[in-house]
Amino acid sequence: MDSFIIKGGTPLRGDVTISGSKNAVLPIMAATLLTGETCTLRRVPNLSDVAFMVRILESLGAEVAWSGDVVTVRAARIKGFGDYDLIRKMRGSICILGPLLGRRRAASVSLPGGCVIGTRPIDLHLKGLTALGTRIQIEGGYIHARARKLTGNTIFLGGRAGPTVLGTANILMAAVLADGVTIIESAACEPEVVDLCQFLVAMGAKISGIGSPTLTVTGVPELHGADHEVIPDRIEACTFLCAAAATKGDVTLHGTRPEHFAAVLDKLREAGVRIERKGTTLRVTRPGRLKPADVTTQPYAGFPTDVQAQFMALMALAPGISVITERIFESRFMHVAELMRLGADIAIEGPNAIVKGGRPMSGAPVMASDLRASAALVIAGLAARGTTQVHRIYHLDRGYERMEDKLRQLGARIERAAGE
Ligand code: UD1
Repeated sequence: MDSFIIKGGTPLRGDVTISGSKNAVLPIMAATLLTGETCTLRRVPNLSDVAFMVRILESLGAEVAWSGDVVTVRAARIKGFGDYDLIRKMRGSICILGPLLGRRRAASVSLPGGCVIGTRPIDLHLKGLTALGTRIQIEGGYIHARARKLTGNTIFLGGRAGPTVLGTANILMAAVLADGVTIIESAACEPEVVDLCQFLVAMGAKISGIGSPTLTVTGVPELHGADHEVIPDRIEACTFLCAAAATKGDVTLHGTRPEHFAAVLDKLREAGVRIERKGTTLRVTRPGRLKPADVTTQPYAGFPTDVQAQFMALMALAPGISVITERIFESRFMHVAELMRLGADIAIEGPNAIVKGGRPMSGAPVMASDLRASAALVIAGLAARGTTQVHRIYHLDRGYERMEDKLRQLGARIERAAGE
């Protein structure tokens, strides 16, 4: 397994272009199954999760072409089940359930199971699909879903931790081809859900309330092909902002949508980071010392759970105490022990991480546990003195396009070492 070897202590300087959003493109790729016509997707990031989704679509019978950042999909004839092994490997693949039901009225996918950031239930997905008239059977680790007909309904999708992003995507994708009107209450408002809605509308779907917690879908008999440019990745942008601030650098991000991560910009400013915006360009500098800042993760438009780990790495460098509270996923603190190996002083008390920042950080071998935890370790490694080896970076390849190339372009001393 590959690792990154990072020689820390160099401020990042220069320009970086943000890629298309992983969390937007995965459900949008699934949505291409809703039509037999050709769909063209642009600004598609080159990630292993996207490659997985391409293979899943192909295993369902779709023809897929991927060239540069453009993916075209033609799902003229599709099956209700794909390659189970592939589906099992990527949690995001749960979002093929909705489109397969919409198009074929039948789907079998493997249960996603738990992962290191906590148990990841799908009860809300199943509740919503059942309300549309689907019969669900769970057998041998698989979800078998069948519907003679899908009928619109009013569905409350809020859960213990708030709305569900992929759950909203799944219900939307089934509802666009259902009979009648579906109202999703407590729908997720994340920009990735908005992007999916916009793609579905371009395919001929009728959706109102886009971007709000109440989505109204009027089913149509069929959808057609569409051409869509995926939104830039707000989590990648926030990761580069944290890395630039951590190294006291001067970095300009291009192709961003800063309105998608206002909560993170607000906290970075509170922490003493200077951010200047010109349209879709953001310049980040840090004029003085970092200041501590408390953060609580929330559904959109609050502080995203997917930036919690990276922000914690930054707060480990800020003299003083910061309290970071995780409200979306339990046990999403796998990065804490690894940050401590680099010298950070962090205590976990329930959903709170108490960060006593400003201790000297020095390089060490660390282990990446999930995608965003890995990004936090890279940020800490870039700021620490000495050499940090981040093992198991396949997690990073799932969600960051050419991360080491982009960092090197900013002057970072980072190399990929091939593992056995
Ligand atoms: C998506 C993102 C992930 C991000 C998360 C929250 C993708 C591919 N992944 O994941 O990067 O961290 O949103 O912003 O887009 N829940 C239930 N029942 C359900 C579904 C979810 O209780 O049926 C709970 C979860 O355990 C969690 C919360 O709802 O506590 C939010 O999860 P959800 O929004 O569903 O996350 P994902 O869509 O899987």
